[in-house]
Amino acid sequence: MRKQALEVSTECELTAAFDLDSAALAKLPGHVSVFKDAEQLLKSDACDAIIISTPTHFHKDLALTALENGKHVIVEKPMASSLADCEQMVETAKRCGKLLTVGFNHRYFAAIKEVKAAIQSGALGTLRYVKGYAGHTGLSEFKSEWMYDKDKMGGGTLMDNGIHTLDLICYLMDDRVSDVSGMISTKTWQLDRTEDNAFVHLRTQSGIMGSLHSSWTEWKGYHFCVEAYGDLGMARAYYAPMSSTIITMDKPGGQAHKKRNFYIPAIFREKFKGWQSTVVQTFVEEFHDFVSLANGGPAGAIATAQDGLRSIAIPNAVYESDRDRSVVTVL
Ligand SMILES: NC(=O)c1ccc[n+]([C@@H]2O[C@H](COP(=O)([O-])OP(=O)(O)OC[C@H]3O[C@@H](n4cnc5c(N)ncnc54)[C@H](O)[C@@H]3O)[C@@H](O)[C@H]2O)c1
Repeated sequence: MRKQALEVSTECELTAAFDLDSAALAKLPGHVSVFKDAEQLLKSDACDAIIISTPTHFHKDLALTALENGKHVIVEKPMASSLADCEQMVETAKRCGKLLTVGFNHRYFAAIKEVKAAIQSGALGTLRYVKGYAGHTGLSEFKSEWMYDKDKMGGGTLMDNGIHTLDLICYLMDDRVSDVSGMISTKTWQLDRTEDNAFVHLRTQSGIMGSLHSSWTEWKGYHFCVEAYGDLGMARAYYAPMSSTIITMDKPGGQAHKKRNFYIPAIFREKFKGWQSTVVQTFVEEFHDFVSLANGGPAGAIATAQDGLRSIAIPNAVYESDRDRSVVTVL
């Protein structure tokens, strides 16, 4: 899908590639320079930015080599398998003066944009809490074992699908998360240290609350939802299918004004071109913000390396909270 997005983008172009799977490389158009190993590509001048979309446990080493060799980097979520790896990536990007962003493309879903705009406009009053849900059917979704291997992925549902919604919650709260607690369960899939359900509570420095349920036992199939509540209203984004609801009032508990959006063109597009068409569109928008930020322009909605680091720090705090039955301070 990243490749399709590069074909559509007017700002980014696929100029070079490496994949362990040579059959995938053989399908690329003739103008793309194909490399025999990752290091050769990262050290070449065949591109000025790299998209790292490998299994998670390779993210750190590839990102460090790319940054050290003067490339800007988009790394897929989760940023890396451990917090220490993420810290090293952030530090290297800073030292090398290169841009490092993380592929939290759900920020570009139309319904999420609507919720973000409702908060920013002040229509919801003072933001008090944001809650989210992310679920899919778990192991039946996965093609490869690394996707549910704690040592490679860094965790279970929280690091896989929950991390997107966790990032959305933090993005909407737009405040530093300070306190984290949570509980995890491994009872359904019975994987070693790899949670199939996680329940998370958050509090920011200014007191905005957050909660997330992340699941690999969502038998209704893939979906996610996020809801932001202020003193004067709420805004909700749901996928799939895409929908949003905004409720506003002139005073707490006052006359409610309700607006719903069902994104009919997006639903029809997905019907004919698949859900992938929505993802491709979000990647194109993400590329736009990436280029802008790399050139010193506005960041738009893109997730920075610091956002990526936070999205790993919180699951790790949840694992600690579950183990120690504690509230963990995130710095
Ligand atoms: N943004 C999103 O919504 C989203 C969706 C799916 C996956 N992802 C993330 O993208 C990454 C890849 O996931 P996927 O589902 O595409 O995995 P995948 O297993 O389908 O594909 C991984 C690709 O990386 C190649 N590869 C493996 N090791 C490599 C290495 N060391 N160097 C170069 N290439 C290597 C494989 O040959 C394969 O083509 C993961 O971090 C995953 O979490 C993000």
